[in-house]
Amino acid sequence: MPKLIVVNREGEESTVDAAEGLSVMEAIRDNGFDELLALCGGCCSCATCHIYVDPSFKDKLPEVSEDEDDLLDSSDHRNENSRLSCQIPLTDDLDGLKVTIAPED
Ligand code: FES
Repeated sequence: MPKLIVVNREGEESTVDAAEGLSVMEAIRDNGFDELLALCGGCCSCATCHIYVDPSFKDKLPEVSEDEDDLLDSSDHRNENSRLSCQIPLTDDLDGLKVTIAPED
């Protein structure tokens, strides 16, 4: 079961267990982080699941799709580590991934 380290908007860090097969968004939401709104439920159309990923995991993450790229562009808080958490399926490879919930737009 991959572990995910989540940093909330207060800067507090917690480690959560996440079932493989969930998206990072689902794992964050299911563990009670209500600041990650994920309004569209994971269909890549809202950008309210914006996170920053630990750059050391970048090579293990799926490519950013055109839709994800467009949505991230709509955020004032995009940086080079920005991803939409609903577009990252959790695998054992991502055990220990650290993600930071991006500020609200
Ligand atoms: S939950 Fe809407 S884009 Fe990720």
